[in-house]
Amino acid sequence: MKQEYVIGFSQCIGSDLWRKNMLEEMRMELSLQPGARLIYKDADGNSKTQIEQVKQMLEQHIDLLMISPNEAQPLTPIVEEAYKKGIPVIIIDRKTSSELYTAYVGADNYQIGKMAGEYIGSTLKARGQVIEIMGLPGSSPTIERQRGFADGIKNFKGIEIRTQVYGDWLKVNAEAELLKIQPQLKIASVIFAHNDVMASGARKIINQLQLNQAIKIIGVDALPGKGAGLEMIGNGILDASVLYPTGGKEAISLAFKILSKAPFSKENNLGSLVIDHTNVALMKLQWDKIRNQQTDIERQQSLLNEQKILFKDQQTILNITIITLVLAVVLGGLAFYALVENRKINKNLAANNQEILSQRNQLIEMSEKAKFATEAKLNFFTNISHEFRTPLTLILSPLEDLLQNEKIKTAAGSNLKLIHKNAFRLLRLINQLIEYRKIEHGKMNIHASPNNLVEFIKDISDSFQHNARKNNIDLRFSTVQPELVAWFDPNKLDKVIFNLLSNALKFTGVNGMIRVSIKNGDGWIHIEVEDNGPGMSDDEISRIFEHFYQVENGSAKGSGLGLSLSKELMLLHHGDITVESIKGKGTKFTVNLLPGDGHFSEEEKNQILRDKDELYEQAKIYTTDLDEPQETNGSDLVSPLREQSVLIVEDNTDLRNYLKRKLSTQYEIFTANSAEEGINAAYQEVPDLIISDVVLPGMSGRELTEKLKSDFRTSHIPIILLTAQGSIEQQIHGIESMADAYLTKPFNYDYLLANTKNLLKGRELLRAHYISDIGSSGKPQVSKSLDRKFLNDFAGIVEENLGNEDFTVDEISKTIGISRVQLYRKVKALLDCSITDYILNRRLKKASYLLINENCTIAEITYRVGFASPNYFSTVFKAKYGVTPSEYKKQA
Ligand code: FRU
Repeated sequence: MKQEYVIGFSQCIGSDLWRKNMLEEMRMELSLQPGARLIYKDADGNSKTQIEQVKQMLEQHIDLLMISPNEAQPLTPIVEEAYKKGIPVIIIDRKTSSELYTAYVGADNYQIGKMAGEYIGSTLKARGQVIEIMGLPGSSPTIERQRGFADGIKNFKGIEIRTQVYGDWLKVNAEAELLKIQPQLKIASVIFAHNDVMASGARKIINQLQLNQAIKIIGVDALPGKGAGLEMIGNGILDASVLYPTGGKEAISLAFKILSKAPFSKENNLGSLVIDHTNVALMKLQWDKIRNQQTDIERQQSLLNEQKILFKDQQTILNITIITLVLAVVLGGLAFYALVENRKINKNLAANNQEILSQRNQLIEMSEKAKFATEAKLNFFTNISHEFRTPLTLILSPLEDLLQNEKIKTAAGSNLKLIHKNAFRLLRLINQLIEYRKIEHGKMNIHASPNNLVEFIKDISDSFQHNARKNNIDLRFSTVQPELVAWFDPNKLDKVIFNLLSNALKFTGVNGMIRVSIKNGDGWIHIEVEDNGPGMSDDEISRIFEHFYQVENGSAKGSGLGLSLSKELMLLHHGDITVESIKGKGTKFTVNLLPGDGHFSEEEKNQILRDKDELYEQAKIYTTDLDEPQETNGSDLVSPLREQSVLIVEDNTDLRNYLKRKLSTQYEIFTANSAEEGINAAYQEVPDLIISDVVLPGMSGRELTEKLKSDFRTSHIPIILLTAQGSIEQQIHGIESMADAYLTKPFNYDYLLANTKNLLKGRELLRAHYISDIGSSGKPQVSKSLDRKFLNDFAGIVEENLGNEDFTVDEISKTIGISRVQLYRKVKALLDCSITDYILNRRLKKASYLLINENCTIAEITYRVGFASPNYFSTVFKAKYGVTPSEYKKQA
């Protein structure tokens, strides 16, 4: 942006017409040359005031100072100060008494005085005395005009400057001074005033005193305008005036030159001339013309300004319009692009939506199908369950007949009982499944009737007493009231209570305690079944009523349906069943019934006569399942000592006992009902083979296998895993766990036996290698690195100690780091001979080698292979090789 200059203008006095003209000229010029602002100060003829005003302007940081000093001397220092500060100074009209200024604008006052003097002398041809009315003493025009005037007039003889007065540039002062010199006035022929206003004062006094009318009065300035110099010449008030231009216009042009660093001249003298009646008309004409032109210029100027403003406005509007247009085009482009993109996105979205919709429909269809398939499967399952009941009944009835027969019972009693118990178990599961499906389909109706709840619960709990006593479980029923009539469906509530008690008995260990009680009073009737069994974790509690959820607890496992069914049955009663349990402490189930019959609809209240047989049937179903056949103890069996032993790890007592009974005819049997027990038994007994279930409470059969196979005390033992999980992946997983064989349930016993025999036979090959002679051909058959390492270690220790007569089995077990029994069993299992036999055999083998290959005496050899005496050595050697050592050596 172009810089705007600040020009300070200090005027000595602003009230007279001449100086008003000067200011007007300046303003006009400024309006033609924009880019500067004028600060104007009027000192009103007071030099002190003017000094102060200049100071103020300097403080305001003006770019240029213009000054017309009131008096030369007093104003000199402040002007010099400004100049020294670097502010350009233009002196106008009056001067200071110093040369320190930038430029001067004004007419040459000496010339003006001289022109006046010469005009008086030559043109007026005046003679006689002259009165000079001077300006302000000390102001430069006064001094210079006075000097010029004196010089101009001195050449004319007969004319002299008789009197000089100071009018201070003012009319009134001039008049006052003239009145003081009336005698001189009377004889004077010419009055020269330093300006027109003082000259007009002189005319006034002449007229007033009615003095010599022919007296010539000459002034300075010759200003145009009303009452000014030109007019006064025209109407004869003044005889002549020396033109003194104000220089306002020139001062401003000069200021712009200086500020814009254009070349300029320091002294700018304005031209002058004398105006009298001969040229005043022309001058006036000129002035009027100039005035008119000036007015025109001003008008043009203001028009131009208006146009400028209009142009500026239009420019702004145009700019805004262009910007708006560009923006509109850009935005339009963007909008179009967005529209195209939007269309694309919408198209994609629509396609995606369509795809999602069709996928959703497919999913719905699939889930419908899946639902239908599940439903069909469950229906099939339910139907087939119904079908199972007839064959089961047909198994159970003849079976019960067979069990009545003493002869058969002796021959096959245990097998028959096993069948009997499991057939009942199957029946119970099937019944539960059917009932659950009935509820699910809303086909189960409740038939609530008033019954004595105390008697009802007592009967059920009594039917468990027999089983409880067998395990020394303290089962007690307690109630405060001897009779409590409540509304319930006996054929449904019995299943709930049977199920709870059956569970309690299953989970409560030997010597445990079960409490059945009835409580009421808080608006509910509570039947509580509490045991001190293993209890449940919070997670188990939260899931216990989910169907098919099974709590794994010790050796007992539920079907996962009983509690879920019980819950549904209780909801049919508008009641509930809840559970509280603490892990390790016990569990309490509470069946909640509402008293009275208000909660049952008329349809639900329907007395169905309680069939005592039904209760008996239920009792049989729920309690037969609990019959645990006595553990068939190995010692109970009159079994001869077996060569090989088998460890059975199985948590199902029936299956464990069944396998034990079957396998004990050929093997010594150890049993365990958890993996932990199984591992302990394996270390303790070092069996020849292990048969283990995969799903066991706590540690699994697979983990047991991994642990035993990576321990070199037991790594040689073949392991057969049994499981109900029969998928190929699971079988592979089983084999990967280092098991030697993997059989799925239900398995065929003969197949299991064949596997057992096969694996035990496999051990023979291993033995063959280690008990064969050193250097015998054939690669070791031992595939298990741990077993190979064991045998190598073992053989190495023996080899090292062949010469040690006092070498014992204890030393070997200590060096290898296993117990004597484990060592014995392991060597027996792997090499099928005793450790002593093995050592003896190695000694004799080495002896035979030494006899043939080294030239040693018999005594020496006896010593080197660790025999106490040569005699004993000979006896043993002969027993093995049929010849004495010396005979053997000779034969070689
Ligand atoms: C105006 C004036 C003029 C004169 C000039 C001298 O103030 O008196 O009449 O010519 O000043 O500075």
